[in-house]
Amino acid sequence: MYRISFAGAGNVSSALCLAFSGAGHKIIQIASRNITVGKTLAQKVNAEWTGTLKFRDDPDFIIVAVSDNSLEDVLKRIDCSEKSILLHTAGSYGLEVFSGNFLKTGVLYPLQTFSKERNINFREVPFLIEASDNEVRNEIIKLAGILSGRVIDSDTQQRRMIHLAAVFACNFVNHMLALSGKIAGEGSFPFSILHPLIRETVCKALETDPVLSQTGPAVRNDFNTIGKHMDLLYFSPGMRILYKEITDSIIDFYRKNE
Ligand SMILES: NC(=O)c1ccc[n+]([C@@H]2O[C@H](COP(=O)([O-])OP(=O)(O)OC[C@H]3O[C@@H](n4cnc5c(N)ncnc54)[C@H](OP(=O)(O)O)[C@@H]3O)[C@@H](O)[C@H]2O)c1
Repeated sequence: MYRISFAGAGNVSSALCLAFSGAGHKIIQIASRNITVGKTLAQKVNAEWTGTLKFRDDPDFIIVAVSDNSLEDVLKRIDCSEKSILLHTAGSYGLEVFSGNFLKTGVLYPLQTFSKERNINFREVPFLIEASDNEVRNEIIKLAGILSGRVIDSDTQQRRMIHLAAVFACNFVNHMLALSGKIAGEGSFPFSILHPLIRETVCKALETDPVLSQTGPAVRNDFNTIGKHMDLLYFSPGMRILYKEITDSIIDFYRKNE
């Protein structure tokens, strides 16, 4: 049984904390700024909440899952035993973000999108890991292997590229869906009418190849339709710019791949 503490009580901390606790591991402390959020999570896993970054009882791991912008500063302020392995969960950061104060450090980047209200099946989540030395690496592999069947070594540069690809595949796609919902609002029709289309789009891209799956006015060079859509976007100059940029990107992409 591992003894684990967390810094941060957001989406990733919550998901990992509940998953490790559910798998029979002991969560010792949750350190967070927000008392209500931190205490709520701590209570769920029978752990202690702390408002400081001083970790007690020599946990085997301290998982730091805070916003990327705060990561370096939070790591600098952590006070813990040198026996503990200090991990962060940020896709675009490597070991350089740890100050020289810590001996055992690593990265535990779960390649999935986490929101508090969602349950994730961790078995299928790739965990991209990096470690300060071989001994630590073996410990991180064991830790990640509790939850996932896909633990993968990755260096910082490769993980950054994977994170970048994930931003396009997840965050940008989701933003497009949110904007599509905004158009549904403008047109007074339910967003749910698009659900079968959204499902088929993602399934087709995964089952075949997104490059071969593209349909729509841009790939067909239907410029009259594109013009009509640009006119309809009078309610949002920002979405008009986006429509044009993405349309140009599709046209350009298929021209180059002809
Ligand atoms: N969400 C994902 O899908 C996902 C997936 C893989 C990896 N990650 C990575 O996991 C990390 C956490 O992401 P998240 O989505 O869990 O973020 P989040 O839900 O926004 O939670 C961030 C946490 O960081 C805390 N925090 C922010 N600034 C702080 C500071 N200066 N001092 C102390 N605590 C601070 C926040 O506390 P307050 O509530 O008090 O502000 C909150 O508990 C990031 O590095 C992210 O890149 C995220």
